[in-house]
Amino acid sequence: MIQRHETQQQFEESGANLFVGNIEQCPISPQQLALTTRDSPYVVQTFNSGLTAEVYRIRFNGKDYTLKKKRSVARVQNPDGRFSFLNEVQRRSDFQKLKDDPQTSEAFRCIVETIYADYRLGIILSDWIEGDSVKQLTPLLLSQLFSTLNACEKVGLFEWDLSSGNLLVDRHQKLWLFDFGYMYRFDPLTEFNSNGIDTPLFQFCERFETRFLSGWLLEQDYSHRQSLALFRHVKQAAVDILEDKILWLQRNRADHAILYYTEQLRAQYLTALESEEALEDLFTLEMFRSNVLDIEDDLDGKSCTPTTIKRVDTVLEMVEKFYTLLKEQGALFFHNEGKSKAQLIESYQNKLSLVKQYQLSLNGA
Ligand SMILES: Nc1ncnc2c1ncn2[C@@H]1O[C@H](COP(=O)(O)OP(=O)(O)OP(=O)(O)O)[C@@H](O)[C@H]1O
Ligand SMILES: [Mg+2]
Repeated sequence: MIQRHETQQQFEESGANLFVGNIEQCPISPQQLALTTRDSPYVVQTFNSGLTAEVYRIRFNGKDYTLKKKRSVARVQNPDGRFSFLNEVQRRSDFQKLKDDPQTSEAFRCIVETIYADYRLGIILSDWIEGDSVKQLTPLLLSQLFSTLNACEKVGLFEWDLSSGNLLVDRHQKLWLFDFGYMYRFDPLTEFNSNGIDTPLFQFCERFETRFLSGWLLEQDYSHRQSLALFRHVKQAAVDILEDKILWLQRNRADHAILYYTEQLRAQYLTALESEEALEDLFTLEMFRSNVLDIEDDLDGKSCTPTTIKRVDTVLEMVEKFYTLLKEQGALFFHNEGKSKAQLIESYQNKLSLVKQYQLSLNGA
């Protein structure tokens, strides 16, 4: 068991509780909130798609709130899934301190306000955000997202799950983050992410491309040219953040390896921004990597969707078309390392049948 799971397991078994926020702000008692079902008279809307929680939009005296309620049995059985509700309450606790402190509140303005949370009761009560999923990837949106992630990383929080269901945009084009089930602690001066120094490949821009952009592009009807134009915006926004991150790492005497890696990343993105050809190549490499990674995530959680099928089809096409580039540029990593073209094709054909087998039934219990 990894350290984080061990600590969370101990907390779970200790019977200790964790509270966030102010009980006085609850419109009804926390005990009553915990008994909420989709049939409660104050429930306006139910979001039943969550793997570890159910989410309700509730209304009291004309004011809307969001109630996230822990499921008694999580639909994901791996340890990250089993502890994700506890993890979220832990992050809400971290964030509320940062949001309440005038020194840091501005940097965390895109993080939802937690009104009250009680881990043992299994409830998190937040502001209701009147918004919509991301419909347009604008430079403003990307800059809000990446600067929020940068602020999170500076305080030692690494977000893994930037999927489209975890991002909302309100009518002022303000971005909101509200699901922290897969955001973990790390030391930004000595570690790349919450895996320590083992997997530098995982970083904020990669997470966005893996959990959001690569799937989003598969679902939109964009031409290749339009996709590339968006990709350019993403890398431009990332470069701006990397500049700031590098200065911060220098000022805070980060380990050489961390600083070096971050500088290399900025240089790689800058090169891609300088020529169409380099941008094309980076696009191929990043989309291949992101699809490969997301397929594994979905298989691991046995939580595959029709998009997962599209991802495997895309990977198979890319291997067919770009095998040499992928091999030479280091895109064959982890389980793909050292594989020939034929071996890769065989492996992803096998994954295709697994992905079809593990389709989440969205209406099932
Ligand atoms: N504060 C909020 N304001 C408005 N809508 C929200 C808010 N919190 C959540 N939602 C809506 O509820 C959906 C599910 O919420 P959330 O992502 O927190 O949980 P989940 O992903 O369903 O659960 P799990 O973490 O178990 O996978 C979101 O996609 C969003 O549409
Ligand atoms: Mg979510």
